[in-house]
Parts: sequence; C-alpha cells; structure tokens
Amino acid sequence: MLASPLAPVDVPTGPKDVPTVQVRSNTNTLPSSWWSSERLYELERRAIFSQSWLFVTHASRFEKEGTYSSFEIAGYPFFVIREKAAPGQELQKPVLRAFHNACRHRAYPVAKKKEGNVGMSGVLSCGYHGWCYDTRGALRKAPQFDNVPGFDKSANGLFPVHTHVTATGLVFVNFTASPEPPAFNEVFRGFEEEMKEFEFSDYEYRESYELHGDFNWKALMDGYQECYHCPTAHPGLSKAFAIPTYKVVPRSNYCRHFADQRPARVVPPPKRPGGERQRSGSITEWLGSFIFAEKVAEQEALEKAKNVAGEFDGLWVYAFPNSGINCYSPAWYTLRVVPVSATKTILEYDIYQKKGIDEQEMLEFIDFLKQVEQEDFDLCQATQRNLRAGVYTSGVLHPEKENGVIYYQDMVREKVLQHHEMEKAAGKEISPASSGPRDSAEDEVCKALESGRCGGSRDLEW
Ligand code: FES
Ligand SMILES: [Fe+2]
Repeated sequence: MLASPLAPVDVPTGPKDVPTVQVRSNTNTLPSSWWSSERLYELERRAIFSQSWLFVTHASRFEKEGTYSSFEIAGYPFFVIREKAAPGQELQKPVLRAFHNACRHRAYPVAKKKEGNVGMSGVLSCGYHGWCYDTRGALRKAPQFDNVPGFDKSANGLFPVHTHVTATGLVFVNFTASPEPPAFNEVFRGFEEEMKEFEFSDYEYRESYELHGDFNWKALMDGYQECYHCPTAHPGLSKAFAIPTYKVVPRSNYCRHFADQRPARVVPPPKRPGGERQRSGSITEWLGSFIFAEKVAEQEALEKAKNVAGEFDGLWVYAFPNSGINCYSPAWYTLRVVPVSATKTILEYDIYQKKGIDEQEMLEFIDFLKQVEQEDFDLCQATQRNLRAGVYTSGVLHPEKENGVIYYQDMVREKVLQHHEMEKAAGKEISPASSGPRDSAEDEVCKALESGRCGGSRDLEW
C-alpha cells in the first residue's frame, strides 16, 4: 500500500506487540490546493468522513439511561444516546446508540440541545411537527398520520449511525449507510489493547472548550502528527518533555506518540547561613553564581512543568482521520478536529480529570493544555493564509521527524484518489453515508444546473 523506499525504523514498539507500520522515507506534502479546494473537501467527506470510524466521546458521559449528546463532524449532524428501558423493563447492560440528527419527516433536527435526557417520556420529540422517536430510533408518534393510507411508522425510524464502544469506553461512530461497516478491530488493529494501559475509570468528565479556526482540518493534523515544531513553537511543552526523544509510531490507522519526560534535577545552590544564596568576591565567581541561580530557576520551572504533565509517561494517540486522545496522570483529554468547510475547522476539546484531584493542580494542567493548543492554533491560522496564496504549492517532509505526517497524508491521498477513481468509473458521485438513491429525474435536473454539485461527476480540479 505504501511505496518504498522505507525509512529506517528506530522507534519503540510499545509495551504491547501491536503492529507498527513503516512509512516512505522521501516524500512531499500533499499539494496546497488540498487545503483550500471546496470540491476536494466534498470529496474528502465522501471518501473519508462518511465511511471511517470516527472518535466521538467517552461512555462515562452517559451515566443515566436516556442521556444524549449531539455532535456534527464534516457536516454530518448526529447524536449519541444511551438506550432507555421500556417502562417496567430492565436492560441487561448499558447500550449506546447513535442516529443522524434529522427527522424522517422533513429533516428538522430531532435533538435540539447539545446535551440532554429524554426524561420520563422516553422519547425525543421533533420540534417541527411533533414526530416522536424512542431511544432505539423507532418512530413512536406521527401526529395525524394514523389515517394516511400506506404510511408505515416502522419504515420511518431515525437513520442509525454505526457505533463501537471500546473496552475502555471510547465511543466511535461510522456514517456509512451500508449495514456492514468495516470491522473496527481490523481497522484499528491493536488499538483496544493498547488503550488498556490507561485507567480511564479513574477519571471523570470535567469540561469542554472549542477553538474556531480559519483553516483546513489537515492544517491541525499536520501539526498534531509531529513534534519537529515543538522546540520552536512550544517552549512550555519542551520544558516538560525531552523533545529529541519524541517519536510518532504509525500503527494500524492510528499512531502512538512517545516522549521521555524531562528529568527534574533540582540541585539547591549553596546558601549562606542566613538562607541567602552565597555570592563570592570575584567578578567571575559572582557571574558564575548568577548563572547558577538562573539555571536553578530554569530547573525549578522544569520541575513545575513536569508536575503539570504528571508522573505517567503518557498515552498519546492519533486516530485517523481527525482525532487525538491524550492521557496524562492529572487528566486526559480528547481533540476532535471538526471540518466545517475547506477552510473552516472547529477544534473541540473534552477534558476528563482524575477523580479527587486537587483543583489547583487541575487548573495548572488546563492552563498548560490551553497554552499548547493555542500555540498550535496560531500556527494553523498563519500557515493556512500562505497555503491559499498560490505561491507555495508543496514542501519536503523529514522522513523521521515528520513520519507521522507522511503516514496520515498518505492515507488521505490514497482514500481520496481511490474514491475519485470509483466515481469516475461510476460516472457519478458515490456518497457512502447517503441513505437513498440520488439519481432520480429531479436529481438529474440539479446535476445539469450545477455541473455536478448535486450528484454529478465533474472532474476535480487538481
Ligand atoms: S420535521 Fe420533524 S416532525 Fe416534521
Ligand atoms: Fe503543536
């Protein structure tokens, strides 16, 4: 699948014997047009986002039956809901389901809130004409439709979205309308096992925040998949971790990131009996003592940074195409990189804190996290402006320091080109998430009017 020559591999394989993938050693970035073309973005939606397993949330956020959370990824609004038992019945175990957030009547969103619970009624009621759906997606009530000839309630349930919940409670969805999505554990071989290194049950959801960027979703993934930029762009992170040891290890549709924590070697300076730092008479000694004091201050800062990140070595994972799961000891947090258009992206962060953690420690961790994320955000904003300017078209990637970028961009390239070939062969767009045919006579009119925007096969412009 990936072309040779292969890069020399000198990377940890992790404590478990999970597959490690080698990447090409000599490659350029994808062309800059892939960061701004709306048509290319639409193709990515069909080729990648509508048929990949996408990380969403953690099961611990659905403590009660009937609780739901709504999301939107790449223009697909959906919600995840914990099934509620019918009155007088009990469920053997918690069940999480997901549905497209579109009423089967006239497509109004059924779940209006970001988070909620169906309550005693056990149903979600559409705010347009009042159709009601239970937590299994079945249509329970369609006002005044009872006497409409041929109307079949059972054929008008919500469109289901495939879900997979890992043993550690990580919730993934897949929008493909096919009844058989790709097998999760074949896509992410070794992922479930590897995530068991972290004790997710010791943590509880704390808060979320978002950053709204004027850049393509890949701009953030590019930065996420390497730490080549860390010494220049993340001074705080560079104090907490030994950046030269930073490695990205491609697995099976995901990558594990590794770095050693910076050792904290705080050696107290010589002190005067009164407690003040000693200063000797000569200029050289005085200067030496001054530099020493600075070094101590720096080391104290390192110690602080180390404490912020915690004692745990870290379990940092990129899950193709658009997510990061980052586990430290004080907290773990997730990042959903949500494409909105070719040049708009929302970064959605969810933070889960260690149960019983000291509030001050947690606030320091969140400051640390937000500082690093803001630095990445600023890099993306400025880079995207140049990607659109039409001067820069492509650049060279470092075979080792940017192997994670090569790995994920290769996956994007392969999926996009493959899907494009399929569409060319079929003579029309192929939308795996679409629930019905899009080649009616009425669609043909739209196709003709918009030269492919409504189901046509106009060639892409790259
Ligand atoms: S759109 Fe939902 S009831 Fe009409
Ligand atoms: Fe970064």
